[in-house]
Amino acid sequence: MNILILGSGGREHTFAWKIAQSEKTSNLFVAPGNAGTARIATNIAISVTDFPAIKDLVIRENIEMVVVGPEDPLVQGIHDFFLDDDKLNTIPVIGPDKSGAILEGSKEFAKEFMARHNIPTAAYQSFTSDSLEAGYQFLETLKPPYVLKADGLAAGKGVLILQDIEEAKVELKNMLVDAKFGNASNKVVIEEFLSGIELSVFVLTDGKNYLTLPTAKDYKRIGEGDTGLNTGGMGAISPVPFADDTFMKKVEDRIVKPTIEGFQKDDITYKGFVFIGLIKVDNEPYVIEYNVRMGDPETEVVIPRIKNDLVTMLEAVANGNLNTIELELDERTATTVVAVSGGYPEAYEKGKEVQGIENVENSIVFHAGTQLKDNKVLSSGGRVLAVTSYGNNFSEALETSYGSLETIKFDKMYYRKDLGFDL
Ligand code: AMP
Ligand code: GLY
Repeated sequence: MNILILGSGGREHTFAWKIAQSEKTSNLFVAPGNAGTARIATNIAISVTDFPAIKDLVIRENIEMVVVGPEDPLVQGIHDFFLDDDKLNTIPVIGPDKSGAILEGSKEFAKEFMARHNIPTAAYQSFTSDSLEAGYQFLETLKPPYVLKADGLAAGKGVLILQDIEEAKVELKNMLVDAKFGNASNKVVIEEFLSGIELSVFVLTDGKNYLTLPTAKDYKRIGEGDTGLNTGGMGAISPVPFADDTFMKKVEDRIVKPTIEGFQKDDITYKGFVFIGLIKVDNEPYVIEYNVRMGDPETEVVIPRIKNDLVTMLEAVANGNLNTIELELDERTATTVVAVSGGYPEAYEKGKEVQGIENVENSIVFHAGTQLKDNKVLSSGGRVLAVTSYGNNFSEALETSYGSLETIKFDKMYYRKDLGFDL
């Protein structure tokens, strides 16, 4: 089978690594890919949202399945684009169509979906520039901290958590009236603050049947001790030690099942991954957000723990018979540590040569922001590499990842050395 993966990060390198292991895979393409995917697949330099160029590629290379990594093409309707095209409509796309992708594309839609299906989440109201005054009044009814969320996609930056009510009002106005996050903040969801520890649950569904994949916890802040700015993710651990059977039963009954049943009740055609961001408040799970794709860097610990053939799993998603698959897991813990460019998530330099990857023996090095040039690996993004290792527990796995990172070098490389500190 010829398979195309869309994206260029650590998540997509992990998909490529796993899909390349399948006997069913003949030719594997990644668009646009990175230096890591270049070694195991053919990179094609086209953008993930250039649908006509993707169509040409799919026809030219006889692609038989498309796996979508990031949210952007899904929210922009890549699945619908395939369904609406005579030449493409028999080719499975792994990722929801627009009717499902809006769960990530609109925070208000996601909150309404949860309310409709009795899925536990923080209390909320949403506002536009016309209802700014009502927004101020709603803030007055809440206790600090105040949670303001831009309704639309804002590259992971659209959530503000503020201690001071006056500051919250100023930011609400910045978002609604002064387009702080562009069109994404035309509408703002104001939410009750939930206090607890976060984790992520991943579900693969064909729209009716589903498999709950391993849990993971990511570390979003740039600084040790979870301080400093939010990033795309500095590392991840799977499984999450505090997500025990009792807790996961609650997640299954109160969140996963009603979500999949909600898709059916609402006529949402969903074939792909659902990423459910959860928070554990006293032992109870609440949904913080839905994403309509896998997480990054969570993929780098979740996928390596799945023993099944991923292509077989994705075929079952496409064919609507995911109930025939029994998930087989590696019981070990997997951890990944992300090495970033100095300065990230603010300004940073690119084009630094990454050395020493070939000397890593005990970990899997997934490329996140790299490019191959004259046979050299150069940094091309903030997050450069994700170094994944297995262990009998997370401390052991982390120790291996940290050991491997000592053999890798690039100018101004930085990574957090305290992952798991809160567990
Ligand atoms: P989101 O983009 O919705 O994942 O929000 C980004 C981050 O903001 C989450 O990972 C949480 O750490 C935090 N957050 C979002 N909503 C809430 C909430 N209602 N209570 C507490 N923290 C929140
Ligand atoms: N690691 C968080 C995300 O992928 O959105």
